[in-house]
Amino acid sequence: LNGLPKLSELEQAHSDKLSRALQNKITQSGGKIPFSDFMNACLYAPGLGYYSAGAAKFGQSGDFVTAPEISDLFGQCLAEYYAQFKKINFNHEALSIIELGAGTGKLAGDILTHLSKINTLPERYYILEISGELKQRQKIYLEKILPDYIQNIIWLDNLDKISEFNGNGLILANEVLDALPVELFKLKRKKNNQGIEIYQQWIINNPSLPQKFEEISLLADKEFEENLKSNLQTNLEINLEDLLQALNTETPEYQSEINLNLESWLSGIDRLITKGQMLFIDYGFGAREYYHPSRHMGTLMCHFKHRAHGDFLANIGLQDITAHVNFTQVAMAAKNLELTIDNYTTQAEFLLSQNLGPLAEVKLALSGLSHNPTAQQISIANQIQVLTAPHEMGELFKVLILQKGDLDSMPSGRPHFHRL
Ligand SMILES: C[S@@+](CC[C@H](N)C(=O)[O-])C[C@H]1O[C@@H](n2cnc3c(N)ncnc32)[C@H](O)[C@@H]1O
Repeated sequence: LNGLPKLSELEQAHSDKLSRALQNKITQSGGKIPFSDFMNACLYAPGLGYYSAGAAKFGQSGDFVTAPEISDLFGQCLAEYYAQFKKINFNHEALSIIELGAGTGKLAGDILTHLSKINTLPERYYILEISGELKQRQKIYLEKILPDYIQNIIWLDNLDKISEFNGNGLILANEVLDALPVELFKLKRKKNNQGIEIYQQWIINNPSLPQKFEEISLLADKEFEENLKSNLQTNLEINLEDLLQALNTETPEYQSEINLNLESWLSGIDRLITKGQMLFIDYGFGAREYYHPSRHMGTLMCHFKHRAHGDFLANIGLQDITAHVNFTQVAMAAKNLELTIDNYTTQAEFLLSQNLGPLAEVKLALSGLSHNPTAQQISIANQIQVLTAPHEMGELFKVLILQKGDLDSMPSGRPHFHRL
């Protein structure tokens, strides 16, 4: 019906199970839930949500590919960053890595393999992963490829203080911010043209529809309206009137999304360390680009078997739902938490600043020893292209580096602060 691949019987049964749980949740909540609760359940409902259950998710057989799944060069560059950062700031002290949302464990594996080669393995590598299924997958994968280091990899169950940890940490999060639940809102002109109406999107049950759920728009209550206004107007200096500029009779409303929980989430992450940095790598842009009048459909997207589409009510629990990251909002939240913004750059510039060129040369030289060097070399060239080309991940993906404590900064790509 919607042009998406048909579900197998097993997939349908799994999706139906989560749908029933969601229907109950909606009924128990008085008939409607905010979009953020719906997104949270679709992605993280224990044992049933997209990330918490068994779907392949990553790679060719899954729904999307992330940078570490494309090339080990990505993890090697992050390892180089760790090694340099440690040398400059923690030469005689332990510096642990804390990875948020580690996916299949591929990034952890690539970073640690490279750090082992250059004799800079951290004492501990912590992983904070919300999905039980992915935690298991990470354990199996990392045990296999790093049997001698596995006892130094520790999975954190929550954001509580980490025991036996000196507080020095390099926090890494690749494509985690885009997976955090957001609220959907709409702006419309009042009928008399005097001012703007703010709507919040909710999800209700509708058993007569094939997808069983329906999205509805309700005039925002005072709390949501004030929360949205203080975020958009006060914090991000976005004039709501400006957003309506490009609207016309065909597109009479401006729709977008916002993570109203971001600062509280970041403060939990911040409390994990006493000194160090946080690297957030993700697709997104600054607030002016995010909330641009022409972006009146927002950035929410679903990924199912390598098709990107906007139908978040389809394939409940079987597809990824994500929104681009508003890096200005992350930077503002960081400032409120008294973190320093060390850099905001593009993925391409970050990787090139971390020896992507020389690392690729080594990889190319090693490929000469394989049984099919030409195919290997073409594959390496492709990997570099996808990671760095402006129309691939190079420019849409950004790296935001936040700093806690008085530390020496190091080169990490040309800063783009003016775009924050
Ligand atoms: C899009 S995947 C990216 C995975 C991996 N970093 C990569 O680049 O391949 C998002 C990851 O973040 C995890 N995640 C989402 N929200 C989280 C949270 N609040 N705390 C920890 N992990 C989270 C998901 O379970 C998943 O592992």
